[in-house]
Amino acid sequence: MKKVLVTGGAGYIGSHTCVELLNSGRDIVVIDNFYNSKPKAIEAIKKITGKDFKFYEMDYLDREKLEKVFEENEIDSVINFAGYKAVGESVKKPIEYYINNVSGALVLLDTMRKYGVKKFVFSSSATVYGDPEIIPITEECKTGGTTNPYGTTKLFIEQILKDIYNADNSLDICILRYFNPIGAHESGLIGEEPQGIPNNLMPYITRVAAGTLNELSVFGNDYDTPDGTGVRDYIHVVDLAIGHIKALDKLDKEEKGLYIYNLGTGTGYSVLDMVKAFEKANNVKVPYKIAPRRPGDIAKCYADPTKAKNELGFVAHKNLEDMCKDSWNFQKNCNL
Ligand code: WQD
Repeated sequence: MKKVLVTGGAGYIGSHTCVELLNSGRDIVVIDNFYNSKPKAIEAIKKITGKDFKFYEMDYLDREKLEKVFEENEIDSVINFAGYKAVGESVKKPIEYYINNVSGALVLLDTMRKYGVKKFVFSSSATVYGDPEIIPITEECKTGGTTNPYGTTKLFIEQILKDIYNADNSLDICILRYFNPIGAHESGLIGEEPQGIPNNLMPYITRVAAGTLNELSVFGNDYDTPDGTGVRDYIHVVDLAIGHIKALDKLDKEEKGLYIYNLGTGTGYSVLDMVKAFEKANNVKVPYKIAPRRPGDIAKCYADPTKAKNELGFVAHKNLEDMCKDSWNFQKNCNL
């Protein structure tokens, strides 16, 4: 049976996508080196879906091991989640980010070429838009001006994919630009478990609510936004995962091409909106203080989701209350 290779499939977005891939009846092969994930995620995917699949603990940069995966399995398409993703860390460790994210993608794409695999879905990010000139952001908006090496690796890989497609039009490539993924599967068995102190807003909020962190620092309240705090397009990670199924459905129609889609809700919420929504949804308190702006942050970023709706039939259905409740449920379940 033709299989979807999922790199980084034990990670936050990867594990949720594996669940939806299995639920959609597809067969998967997963590789992950557990750099930013845990073996329990693999077991959780199997428990949630009741389905089994092959897993290889390995680094996708290891060409010999990667070729073995292609030798042992009839891979028909690849979804690439593998990669480092901490904005702040990337500023301190650019070489590691370019090696792991960019060289890793090149090793993967070169191996796909060797085995004649044509379908590729890439986990990109709204960060490629830099500080957007137009809000809401469409896929036609200018990219570039990324403010950190993490975002620049995504931009570089997008360019590599465009160049590869120009050289070989028999490829089928889908670039998905995520906005801000939050939430967790309703089972509470998989979710976002950043190592150490979370960089991102929602995992920080859940730990403050749980009492494992004292209070939330709101990074600036003097932005040009309704309440002065940063506005983002938060999308439930399960909706995001389903967006990948829609993208694969399109590639499975053998429509050769390179496609780019924003995966967002089209609605922006401020930091204080998120705090209030989380407190209301879960009947908890999230103490916070106003702190200085975080370097590299932008005021507003949210999607125009029209293109994904028209071409993929993708619409995010889960609302802010769902995102807050599912995030809290995972926190309690993991006792993070
Ligand atoms: C959201 C808002 C902060 C933490 C990044 C990457 C993006 C993707 C998601 C990987 C901002 C504010 C945050 C805190 C705060 N990463 N904030 N206090 O920076 O929009 O996007 O993460 O896929 O590619 O760029 O997400 O959650 O860090 O911040 O006030 O302790 O919350 O200033 O306005 P961001 P975030």
